[in-house]
Amino acid sequence: MRKFSSVLFLVAIALGTAAQAQTPLERGRYLMQSIVACGNCHTPQGPNGPLPGMELAGGLKIEDKVFVAYGSNITPDKETGIGKWTDAQIITAIREGKRPDGSIIGPPMPIGMYRGMSDNDVRAIVAYLRSVKPVKNQVQKSEYKILLPPSYGPPVGKVADVSARDKIAYGRYLSGPAGHCIECHSPAGPQGAPDVANNLGAGGFIFYGPWGTSVSSNITPTGLGKYTDADLKKVISTGVRPDGSRLKPPMGVPYYAKLKATDLDALVAYLRTLPAK
Ligand code: HEC
Ligand code: HEC
Repeated sequence: MRKFSSVLFLVAIALGTAAQAQTPLERGRYLMQSIVACGNCHTPQGPNGPLPGMELAGGLKIEDKVFVAYGSNITPDKETGIGKWTDAQIITAIREGKRPDGSIIGPPMPIGMYRGMSDNDVRAIVAYLRSVKPVKNQVQKSEYKILLPPSYGPPVGKVADVSARDKIAYGRYLSGPAGHCIECHSPAGPQGAPDVANNLGAGGFIFYGPWGTSVSSNITPTGLGKYTDADLKKVISTGVRPDGSRLKPPMGVPYYAKLKATDLDALVAYLRTLPAK
């Protein structure tokens, strides 16, 4: 009898785990449609937001003082997208900023942040990229007035997952390696790139686009101290401040609207720990 019940117990555990575990594709879909939001730069946009049928098909023009960049076509199209790249080549492009031909991917793709993306998450993203509709769309070449670096650093190697059970550590992961919130929210340093080393989260980076200009907000406690946690979650996920004003792009509100409550909790908990700037 005793043996029988312990077998049942094990079966129950196995079923419980199976119900919770996500496949890489499910994880990738969640990440891409919420915190990671590659589409914020890689899906072309019209006056009413993302163009229908063009998910990740590229062509969005991103202008800065030192570049005019075009988000690449990262659909599985074999001629104009990344359909011929292997999984390992796509992972190297995301985390190391290097294409299969050895050329370097320029800004504003946040490679410095993506270097910290976990192996499981970057594989999940590749699974999702393989699942989107291939779109034939030849994208213009970007122009840089700066010299691109020969590399963004040594090979990344293995990166372990950050446990969601450690709320602040997971919030730090979501706001950096996964979502690059803190990169957009740090002001430009001497080289024009966001100065995450000295002014993390202080805001003031200027974005030029069809919306005119927008300036990223200070997301350290100096800027966010006036918000309750509930206010702040609403601002991030709806783009509406308590005073009714709306956040302009490229703040990724349509993506952050799909964040799970626990992930929003972790983000907010982490932002509260940033040194005030
Ligand atoms: C802030 C904007 C931005 C974000 C976010 C971004 N990218 Fe990019 N990405 C770019 C731009 C711009 C280029 C083209 C750079 C160039 O021309 O050198 C690019 C290039 C690429 C390339 C090279 C494609 C080719 O054919 O050369 C790949 C692959 C890529 N991105 C994948 C991704 C993935 C996957 C994500 C999300 C994990 C992502 N990017 C997030 C802006 C972005
Ligand atoms: C591609 C750049 C970009 C990314 C990525 C980004 N933001 Fe923003 N964010 C902005 C800009 C620009 C504004 C200011 C918009 C405005 O004032 O109209 C903003 C505004 C905000 C505000 C409003 C604060 C206030 O009241 O002024 C909060 C909070 C915020 N972002 C948090 C986040 C978090 C958390 C993430 C990551 C999940 C994130 N942002 C990712 C560009 C970005």
